[in-house]
Amino acid sequence: MKSGSFSENLKKQLDSVKDIEGFPRAEVDDILYLSEPPSYTACPNPFIKDFIKKYGNPYDSINDTYKRDPFTKDIREGKHHPIYLAHTYHTKVPHQAVQKFIEYYTNPGDIIFDGFCGTGMVGIAATLSNREAIISEISPFATFIANNFLNSLYPEEFMKIFEEILCDVREECDWMYKTNHTNKAINTRTKKYANYIKAFEKIGKINYIVWNDVYECPYCYNEICFGETPNERKPGEKYDQFNCPYCDSIVNERKAKKVMFQKYDDILNDSIDVVKDKPILISYSVGKSNFWKKPDEFDFHLIEKTEGINIPYWIPNKRMPKGRSTTQALKSHNITYVHQYFTKRNLYVICKFLDLCKKRNFKIWFLISSLLQKASKLMALNKDYIGRVTKGTLYVSSTRQEINIFYFLNKNIASFKQSLEILKHSKKFIISTQSATNLSNIPSKSIDYIFTDPPFGGNIMYSELNFIWEAFLRVFTNNEHEAIENKVQGKSLQDYTKLMERCFVEMFRILKPNRWITIEFHNSKASVWNSIQTAIKNAGFVISLVSVLDKKVGSFKQITTANSVKNDLIINAFKPKNETPSQILKSADLSLDIQFLREQLKSLPIQPMVSRTDKMLFSKMLAHYIENGFEITSNSTGFYKILNENFVELDGYWFIREQIQIYKKLKAEIRDN
Ligand SMILES: C[S@@+](CC[C@H](N)C(=O)[O-])C[C@H]1O[C@@H](n2cnc3c(N)ncnc32)[C@H](O)[C@@H]1O
Repeated sequence: MKSGSFSENLKKQLDSVKDIEGFPRAEVDDILYLSEPPSYTACPNPFIKDFIKKYGNPYDSINDTYKRDPFTKDIREGKHHPIYLAHTYHTKVPHQAVQKFIEYYTNPGDIIFDGFCGTGMVGIAATLSNREAIISEISPFATFIANNFLNSLYPEEFMKIFEEILCDVREECDWMYKTNHTNKAINTRTKKYANYIKAFEKIGKINYIVWNDVYECPYCYNEICFGETPNERKPGEKYDQFNCPYCDSIVNERKAKKVMFQKYDDILNDSIDVVKDKPILISYSVGKSNFWKKPDEFDFHLIEKTEGINIPYWIPNKRMPKGRSTTQALKSHNITYVHQYFTKRNLYVICKFLDLCKKRNFKIWFLISSLLQKASKLMALNKDYIGRVTKGTLYVSSTRQEINIFYFLNKNIASFKQSLEILKHSKKFIISTQSATNLSNIPSKSIDYIFTDPPFGGNIMYSELNFIWEAFLRVFTNNEHEAIENKVQGKSLQDYTKLMERCFVEMFRILKPNRWITIEFHNSKASVWNSIQTAIKNAGFVISLVSVLDKKVGSFKQITTANSVKNDLIINAFKPKNETPSQILKSADLSLDIQFLREQLKSLPIQPMVSRTDKMLFSKMLAHYIENGFEITSNSTGFYKILNENFVELDGYWFIREQIQIYKKLKAEIRDN
C-alpha cells in the first residue's frame, strides 16, 4: 500500500463504500495493504468522483454534438501479444481489438468504462489510445492484476528487485530441484543415452517431474502406476481400458479406483486421506542439454525430504469454498484446502517468494502470481509432453507436471519484461473492486463509452477459480452478486438475468446519452443469449449492430461445451437521448434460419473462406438475430441440423446446392495449373 495521505483517506472513507455490493471479504488491513489509492482500491473506490471531476467533460444536453454510426468491421485479433501472455486469466479480450472500438467511438481524453474488467485489458486499451479509464470488477485478484498492468514499476527497476528476490529464494531452495545426471538418462534432442554427451556433469537441474496417480486393479488388487515400468504408454496417454501389468485383466480406466492413504498434513495438523501418486519421469538440464530419466534413489530421497519439510513462512491454509469447480478436485483427489493444490516443494518456494515480495516490494508478486496455476497440481501433462492447465476449471489430472518454478520463471521472463516495456506510457486510470450491480460511486451521465466483456451464464465460476490466487492476497471475492448461473450459490438462469440486468441498468445510468456501449459476449447457450439480450434491452439500450470477434484460438470451455462455438459476438448498442418503449423479443421460426443462411451463402464469393465455415455462419446468424431483436431458438446442435439438411459441405466450407459445381470447377482449375 502507498503510504501517505491517500491511504489514510481511504481508511477514513471505507465506511462510505462498505455497503456497495461486492465489497470484498477480507480484514480491513489486508484490503488497505493491497490498495494503492487513489488509483487502485481493493474495495469500492471512493475516489472515482474526484477522478471524473479532474479529467471528465460534463455532459451538456443542449450543446452536445456527439454522433457516431455503429462500428461495422468484423475483427480478427490473436492472443500472442506479450501483454496478453504476461498473466493468465480464464477469459480475456485482446487489448488491440478493444483499441479499435475505443478509437472509433471516442476522442482522446474521453472517459472509458468497463464494469467487468477482469485483468484490465480495456484499461490498457484506453490508456494506450490516450483515453482515461475507469475500470471495476468484483474479484480482488482480477483488479490486482489490472492494477499491476496499469501501474507497474519501470522494467529496469522491476527486474532489479526481482533478481534480488530470486537470488535469495534460489539460495534457500535451489537444492529442492536437483537430480543426479546418470548415463541411463536420454537426451531429449538426440534421443540417445546421456553418456554420448561430452559435457558430462554430476548434478542436473530439474525442469519438471511427471507424477502419476496410482490405481488398484479390481481383479488382482495390485497397485498400478503407469510409467513405472519400461515400455509402457507415454505419460498423459489415455485409453478407455488397459491391461493390468500384473494379471493381464482388461481394466476400464474410468472404473479403476485410485489408491488412497492417510497422510499427516502438518499445515492442518491433522491426518487426511490423499490419493497415492508416484514420480515417474524427470526432465532435467545439464548445461544446455535436456534429458529424461526415471527417478532414482537420490530423487526419492529428495522428494521425501521436501515433502516432510516445515515451511517457516505464512501459508494460505484456507478451505476451498463449496462450488461447482471446486468439486472437481474434491471428487478426484480429496482436495479441500488451498495448500493441497501444491506439492510441498513448490508451496515452500511460493511462500518464500511471497514473504520476500511483502518485505521488499509487493509489485513483484504480480510476476510470481502469474505462475501460480502452472506451479500447482492443476498442471496436467499431455501425451505431447506439454504441460497445460485446463482453462476455466480446477481440474486435477491423474498425470501431472510438477514444474521447477525457477526454470519456468526463466522461460517466461523475457516476454514478461517486454510487456512492462510496452506499458511504460503515462496513464490516467482508476480501478475499483466492486459489483457492477451497484455503481453508486460513479456519477450519472459521466462516461463517454463503455466496452465490456461480461461473465456468460454458467460457463466459468470466477470466484471459485480465483480463490486460490486470492488466498495468497488474503482478500476474497464477495460472490453474493457475482453474475453467474451456479446451483451451489443458488443462482438460476433467471437470477443471472436479473443480476446482468441490474449491471446494465447501472451502466446505462452512468453513460452519457447518445453514447455507445460495446458488449463482447462469448458464444453460449441460446437461453443465455436470450437472457443477455433481454437484460441489455430492459436496461434501456438499443442494440444497433452485432459483429464477430474471431479470437483464433478458443478456450477449452468454448470449444467443448456442447452448444457453443468459437467466435465471440460484439454487440454495439447505444443509450438513446429520450426514453425508448420497452423492447420485446420477437419470435423467429425455422424458415427464417434457412432464409438467412441461404442469403449469406449466396452473397459470398464461391471460394474457400472463413465466412463459409459452420462456426462463422452460426456466429453471423446469432448476430443477425440479436441485431433484429429475435429470440434465439436454435442452439448450435439445431443449427448444424439445419445446415446438413439444406446445404452442402465441401472441404469444411458450406455452399448452396447451385454453387457446388462452380466450386468444384475452381478446385480443378487450381489443381491443373
Ligand atoms: C469475461 S470476464 C472479463 C475478462 C476481461 N475482459 C479480461 O480481459 O480480463 C468477466 C468478469 O466479470 C466478473 N464479474 C462477475 N460478476 C460480476 C459483477 N456482478 N460485477 C463485476 N464483475 C463481475 C468476473 O469476476 C470476471 O472477471
